[in-house]
Amino acid sequence: MPETKLLRFPPGKSLTEELCIVMKRIEAYGVVYPARYYRTLVEKYTREGVLYPHILMIIGEPRINNHFFYSRALKGTGRLLDYGCGTGDNVRQLIRDGFPRERITAFDLNWTSINLGFDLYRDQEEIHDLFIVSGTFTFGPAEFDMVYSASVFHVIGDDEEFGNYLANAWSALKPGGILFGSTLGLVEGAVRSPDERGPPRVMSREQLTSRLTGAGFTRPKIVQRYHVLHYVADKSDNRCVFEFCTKKPA
Ligand SMILES: C[S@@+](CC[C@H](N)C(=O)[O-])C[C@H]1O[C@@H](n2cnc3c(N)ncnc32)[C@H](O)[C@@H]1O
Repeated sequence: MPETKLLRFPPGKSLTEELCIVMKRIEAYGVVYPARYYRTLVEKYTREGVLYPHILMIIGEPRINNHFFYSRALKGTGRLLDYGCGTGDNVRQLIRDGFPRERITAFDLNWTSINLGFDLYRDQEEIHDLFIVSGTFTFGPAEFDMVYSASVFHVIGDDEEFGNYLANAWSALKPGGILFGSTLGLVEGAVRSPDERGPPRVMSREQLTSRLTGAGFTRPKIVQRYHVLHYVADKSDNRCVFEFCTKKPA
């Protein structure tokens, strides 16, 4: 597994300010923090760093419930894998919206962001059983009816690893199963300018389509969005968010 570098907060953003903002946001869900908890978290994450600062910045604003496939996903009767679940924000949203928790599995390569989610929601005891962490993909063939993948494609720079990720999603799905999610993308006609701060894989619509179909998925539907929740509100930087939904043939 390639080593993951800690990223820096974008210009004008800082750990102290962003933690304060997300804690206020999470309090609105009814989470109560003990005295001096903010200080404790600032000290902890100043010491340890935050793997994906953008993910910290959007905790409490899940994206899954804005996805064009979400209402159908909620009505689905099968099992869902959140593949590359990070903090688990999307899993919590599914549970809030009534998706049965026993049909949810959240997987990631490490505990780093999952633990950040536990620290902020203080719900480790209630939901830790939904999370599986491993350096290798641990699921057998055809275990899931849906695989959800949010902001994972664009963080996988290595081509072979990305191919393996798609192959795992394909294999874990039952025939007729759905892969849906989102990734940062390039707007039509744009050429990506070098951006060492940005994520390593920002695909055009054509590239995304070709990777999905190349992995065996069929008829991908891709919707281009500008989306403040992904901090891609500025059209001038040529990036957008692609929401996608595609099927493993039955
Ligand atoms: C930017 S975060 C997004 C987290 C979450 N899906 C969300 O929307 O908030 C990317 C996540 O993908 C995970 N990831 C990266 N490569 C992966 C891989 N090959 N398999 C599984 N997870 C991976 C990272 O560990 C990280 O938690």
